[in-house]
Amino acid sequence: MASLKSLQIVSGLLTFVLLLTQLLAHAHVVQAENIDAAETDRFCYPESSKNTRRSCECSNVSASPWGNRALRIDCSYKDYRSADLSLVLPLYIDSLDLSWNALDSVPILSSDTLHQLNLRHNNVSQLVAGNFKLLTSLRELYLGWNSIGRLEAGSFDGLPHLQVLDLAHNNLHLLPGQLFAPLLVLGTLDISWNRRFNESGEDLYTGLGVNWKLSTLRLDACNLGDLHLPVNAPLKELSLRRNQLKRIPAQLPETLLRLDISDNLLEELLPEDTFNLTQVRQLFIEDMPLLQRVMSNALAHVDVLETLSFQNSRQLSHLDAEAFGPTMTTSTKKTALRSLSFRGTMLRTFNSTLAPLFTQLAELDLNGLPLQCDCELVWLKQLPVETNGRCYKPARIRGMLVTSARGDAFSCDTWPRWAYGLVVLSLIALSAAGIYLIVMGLRPHRGVTMRRKVGAGSPYARVTIEPNRQENPH
Ligand SMILES: *[C@@H]1O[C@H](CO)[C@@H](O)[C@H](O)[C@H]1NC(C)=O
Ligand SMILES: *[C@@H]1O[C@H](CO)[C@@H](O)[C@H](O)[C@H]1NC(C)=O
Ligand SMILES: *[C@@H]1O[C@H](CO)[C@@H](O)[C@H](O)[C@H]1NC(C)=O
Ligand SMILES: *[C@@H]1O[C@H](CO)[C@@H](O)[C@H](O)[C@H]1NC(C)=O
Repeated sequence: MASLKSLQIVSGLLTFVLLLTQLLAHAHVVQAENIDAAETDRFCYPESSKNTRRSCECSNVSASPWGNRALRIDCSYKDYRSADLSLVLPLYIDSLDLSWNALDSVPILSSDTLHQLNLRHNNVSQLVAGNFKLLTSLRELYLGWNSIGRLEAGSFDGLPHLQVLDLAHNNLHLLPGQLFAPLLVLGTLDISWNRRFNESGEDLYTGLGVNWKLSTLRLDACNLGDLHLPVNAPLKELSLRRNQLKRIPAQLPETLLRLDISDNLLEELLPEDTFNLTQVRQLFIEDMPLLQRVMSNALAHVDVLETLSFQNSRQLSHLDAEAFGPTMTTSTKKTALRSLSFRGTMLRTFNSTLAPLFTQLAELDLNGLPLQCDCELVWLKQLPVETNGRCYKPARIRGMLVTSARGDAFSCDTWPRWAYGLVVLSLIALSAAGIYLIVMGLRPHRGVTMRRKVGAGSPYARVTIEPNRQENPH
C-alpha cells in the first residue's frame, strides 16, 4: 500500500517537472519568434516603403522533415537599387528572390541559412572578390540575364556548398584563372548566351578550375568553333546549342548521357561524329540550318541511345539505309531506341531496311514530311505507332495520313521513265511508217497507168480508121 502511494507521488512530481520545462521552452520559443518577427518586418516591410507595393512578400514554410522553420522572401519586380536593401538578412531565411529589380551591383548580403539567391534580370555588370563570402550556406545562385562582363579573381570565394551556378545571358569573355575553383561541389554550371565566351580561351577544367565532378554544363550560344573537354570527367549532360560547330567535338567526356548539339553548322552526320558517344541516351540534333544528310553508320555506335531528334532540321533530305548500322545488324539487333523524331525535316522516303528498327519504337514523329507514298514506302503503313506522316506525292492522295491512305494507292511505275519515252517514240515511228505505207498504197502505180492509157480497152487505144464502104461502093 505504502509503496503504491510513494509511486503516485513520484509520478505526480515527474509530471510537474515535465510541465514546467515545457512551459519554459515555450516561453523561449515565443521570445525568439518575437525577435525574428521584428527582424523579418524590418526586412520585409521597411519604414521607407510601408504600405507601398515595394514591400517584399515574406512567407514562412516548414522545410525539411524535422519541421525546421524557413523563411522565403520574394522581392521581385520592386525597382530596388542596391542601396535600398538591408544587408543582414533575417534569421531562418531560406530563399531570397531579387529578380527583375534595378540592382547595378550585387549587395554583400550576410546570412548563414540562405540556400537560394535569385538575382536574374538586374543590371549587374561586375562581381567583386568575396561578393558572396558571407552567404556560407548558399546552394543555388542565379545571376542570369544581367550584363556581367568583369569578374575579379575570388568572386566566388566562400561558397563551398554551392551546387548550381547560373551565369547565362551575360557578357563573360575574359575570365580570371581558377575563377570557379572555390566551388568545391558545383554540379550545374550554365554559361549559355555569353556570345563572347569563345574569347576566354581558357580550358574550363584546368584553366578556370571548374569542379571535376560537374554533372551538367550548358554552353549554348557562346560562339564556340571547337571544344575540348576531358574524356574522363564524369559529366552527364552537355548542351552546345547554337554555336559554330562544324563537327560534333571528338573529345568529350565518355560518361555523357545527354547531348544537345542542335543549331550548329554540320552539313552531314558522319560515323566519326558519334564514334565516342558510347553512353549517350538522349541526343538532340535539332534546328540544324545546314544538315542535309545522315550518312551510313552515322548512328551505328550509339547502342544505348533512347531518344533521338532531328526535329526542324529543314535541309535534311537523306537518311542513309544503313545510318543505324549495316542492314544485317539492324534487323536482328535489339536497340534501346524508343523515341525518334524527324518532324519538320525534308525526308521523302525511308528505305525498308529501317523497318525492324522503326517497329521497336514507342514514338516516331513524321509530322510535316513531304512523303513520297509509293511502293517503297508502303511498309510504313504496317508500323504499330501513329507517326502522323502524310503523303505529299502522288497528288491524288496528297495530305492523307499514311495510315489512312489506301494501300493500292502506294504504287510504283513498274517501268522506268525512259521506257515510257521509248514506247511513245516507237508508236510515233510506227504510225509514221503506217501512214507512209497507206499513202504509197493509194497512189496509182506508174506501170498500171501506162498500161491503162495504151491498153486495148483504153479509150486512147490505137484505132484503125477504115474507109466507108457505103460511100465508095466499088
Ligand atoms: C545599367 O547600367 C549601366 C552602366 O553599367 C547604365 O548605363 C544603365 O543606365 C543601367 N540601366 C538601368 C536600367 O539602370
Ligand atoms: C568568337 O566568335 C566571333 C563570332 O563568330 C568571331 O568573330 C571571333 O573570331 C571568335 N573568337 C575566337 C577567339 O574564336
Ligand atoms: C575518340 O576519342 C579519342 C580519345 O579522346 C580520340 O583520340 C579519338 O580521335 C576520338 N575518335 C573520333 C572518331 O573522334
Ligand atoms: C535500300 O537499301 C539497300 C541496302 O543499302 C539498297 O540495296 C536498296 O537499293 C535501297 N532501296 C532503295 C529503294 O533505295
